[in-house]
Amino acid sequence: LESRNIEKPTTSPSTENVHKQPFVIGVAGGAASGKTTVCDMIIQQLHDQRVVLVNQDSFYHNLTEEELTRVHECNFDHPDAFDTEKLLDSMESLRHGRAVDIPNYDFKSYKNNVFPARRVNPSDVIILEGILIFHDPRVRELMNMKIFVDTDADVRLARRIRRDTVEKGRDIGAVLDQYSKFVKPAFDDFILPTKKYADIIIPRGGDNHVAIDLIVQHIRTKLGQHDLCKIYPNLYVIHSTFQI
Ligand code: CTP
Repeated sequence: LESRNIEKPTTSPSTENVHKQPFVIGVAGGAASGKTTVCDMIIQQLHDQRVVLVNQDSFYHNLTEEELTRVHECNFDHPDAFDTEKLLDSMESLRHGRAVDIPNYDFKSYKNNVFPARRVNPSDVIILEGILIFHDPRVRELMNMKIFVDTDADVRLARRIRRDTVEKGRDIGAVLDQYSKFVKPAFDDFILPTKKYADIIIPRGGDNHVAIDLIVQHIRTKLGQHDLCKIYPNLYVIHSTFQI
């Protein structure tokens, strides 16, 4: 057991009140790439585990009164649009077994203080989902697995037009202006460069059932190893290499 590819468990089960750290999965990708569908499918297939979903959207900064008057000039695809410190605080609490209240974001009023906030309890698996969830290294470091949903730009744009006009009630001209002014440049400058951090890249998003099945199998294996380490503290775990 001295050879490479062997990893000592980081938990110390001999300590009383030992807290099992959750398995954290990051799901990034362009807007309307199908991240939500991928997350829903993972959650559905992990039905016997306690899984919670945390959306980066919940951590959008509230706009000031002045910004609300010129909302079409606001860039919601820039890393500064999010309150990353608050996201980190919430994750810190969850990782230490404390429940947190996550704000609900309303895309129509541009406010994240929609009452009531969503109470999120500590769980075995936490899925962090959002366009820029791999941008900040401190957030990336929390993740045990990073998934990038890779969907063609034309598919993302078509979905976005339908979603923003039908669900958000926005004007198509404003949707296209926002896309060319902010969404596309931010994808190229901030989102696409984070693809290199992914452990797994899923082409075609939620349509890729084979990829989702493999991911869920891998998570199950990892969770099983985690539990074994708790029961048998001297057990060493052999790394598995995973590629799609
Ligand atoms: N956004 C917006 N108006 C706001 C806040 C955000 O139009 N007040 C847009 C941003 O421009 C950004 C997008 O919301 O491009 C981020 O949400 P998105 O990733 O599209 O949502 P999901 O439903 O998570 O996407 P997916 O289809 O991948 O699940």
